[in-house]
Amino acid sequence: MRLDLFTLFPEILSGYLGQSILAKAIERKIVEVQLHDFRLWTKDKHRTVDDRPFGGGPGMVIKVEPVVECVEAVRAGLPSSGRLILLTPQGRRLTQPIVEELASESSLQLLCGRYEGFDQRVTEILQPDEISIGDYILGGGEVAAMVLIDAVARLVPGVLGDERSSVEDSFSQGNRLLEFAQYTRPREYRGHTVPEVLLNGNHDAILKWRQEQTLQRTRERRADLLDPGDDRPI
Ligand code: ADE
Repeated sequence: MRLDLFTLFPEILSGYLGQSILAKAIERKIVEVQLHDFRLWTKDKHRTVDDRPFGGGPGMVIKVEPVVECVEAVRAGLPSSGRLILLTPQGRRLTQPIVEELASESSLQLLCGRYEGFDQRVTEILQPDEISIGDYILGGGEVAAMVLIDAVARLVPGVLGDERSSVEDSFSQGNRLLEFAQYTRPREYRGHTVPEVLLNGNHDAILKWRQEQTLQRTRERRADLLDPGDDRPI
């Protein structure tokens, strides 16, 4: 998978890319990442990327020209255009089905904003898929892009060591239940013991216990996931 990240702060993303499971995937050429600083596409001597909003109001707006020209130039050089995504609190909320859909693309371009956002013409001209990672406002799209990349990359074949571990995820492939509890050695710690059923090697009983756990946890913690009237994407 090819990832092109458009940002005014490439260092925020490069630190993450050098450390996460992605670092290995990049090294093994399963994922290729390119960072693009759209400040380099400004033409004035002060490299101005933002300006005051027409109509007044607080904050600064990112200018249309450097963003559109940077994104267009990079996309023109890609073997397949894939999908352009703008990280914004105004987008549709990221869910595991959307993550799965994005993981099947061969190329993603992620556009990270700052300040009061982009000039609206960025969206009009580039027509990105607008995605939010939740109903709160971040200082910029970089953290949201990292969340999206982290979730998508682990579904790309070869990125995780064990393919099963992403297929069996809660929320994957229509599953909307929380994970069951996991334990490892020691069997007892400060009086807290591992449930007996996990120790006796009866795989049917273990499966049944885990299924019950999963339902009980979901009911207790996230009953909204079991409710058909919820915000499940159509
Ligand atoms: N940029 C600022 N807040 C955001 C959010 N919640 N999701 C995606 N991008 C953002």
